[in-house]
Amino acid sequence: MKNAVLNSLKQGRIVSGEALADELGVSRTSVWKYVKQLRREGYEIASSPRCGYSLVSVPDRLIEEEILAGLKTRVLGRKIVSLETIPSTQDHAKNLANKGYPEGTLVVAERQTGGRGRMGRTWVSPPGGLYFSIILRPQISISSATQIPLVAGVALLLAIECSTSLLPRLKWPNDLMIGERKAAGILAEMNAEVDRINWVVLGIGINVNTAPSDFPADIKGMSVSLSGGSNHEVSRLKLLQDVLYELEKAMERFQYEGFEPFRLRWKNQSATLGRNVMITGGGDPVEGKAVDIDIDGALILEQGYGSRRRIITGDVSLMGSGD
Ligand code: BTN
Repeated sequence: MKNAVLNSLKQGRIVSGEALADELGVSRTSVWKYVKQLRREGYEIASSPRCGYSLVSVPDRLIEEEILAGLKTRVLGRKIVSLETIPSTQDHAKNLANKGYPEGTLVVAERQTGGRGRMGRTWVSPPGGLYFSIILRPQISISSATQIPLVAGVALLLAIECSTSLLPRLKWPNDLMIGERKAAGILAEMNAEVDRINWVVLGIGINVNTAPSDFPADIKGMSVSLSGGSNHEVSRLKLLQDVLYELEKAMERFQYEGFEPFRLRWKNQSATLGRNVMITGGGDPVEGKAVDIDIDGALILEQGYGSRRRIITGDVSLMGSGD
């Protein structure tokens, strides 16, 4: 019934308690209680004794009804698990994927207590950020799976451009940078057999409205939030809806047209190419100038005398312009 009150208010009209009560077949006291409950949940509802109730704003909370209300996708996010606090949306989504949950299932949480990043790192997840994982069941060969994180990076970039005034760049393999600082990261994990992919779970963490004081000391100087980069609060709800929309379009196009359009877009908005870099985490550190992304999504380094090296995993530290 609370949702019925909300839906009535969402039609954008000013409606009296009496009219609402008649419409929904409840007492005026019940209407008043639901309004109070909605206000407690963060909905701003104005009331005037002469005209009635009107909805002023909805809270930026990642609850199922609100996510669905503005969602433009066909598949992604059509099944939602929304939680207040969870160790890791990624682990939860992987469990659901193993149980057969459908493509597009979204697991989202306000906070994570055991968020994971790439290469076994921790992803600290304070309030104000956006933390979610999505189950994909792509119809592609296993060898193409290495390209998915880069495709997702391009989708994330487009969604952030659409939701903010920012012009982010991509750092290989899939960090999203504002200037020299990281604003978002993607973790892609897969379960496959020799000849087919069972699932890919994409975990995305975005520092949306994260307060600078909430970044842990060791990453503070390297991290930025979208609100910090743009001096505006950013709606996490709209951003999530935009990311799901861009990701769905990108995955469809990727399955029809392959990686090439994404490789070109990635290169265009790269924070890595043309820079001297150091690669760590994949054995001995490797240095060189990042010059290309190949058809598999690997990073190509130039190491002097024209010799080239292909990097398929690791962490990139950006060093200089490479000139
Ligand atoms: C990285 O940059 O290392 C990837 C970070 C991915 C973090 C996200 S937050 C949502 C999902 N749940 C996790 O535990 N990790 C991913």
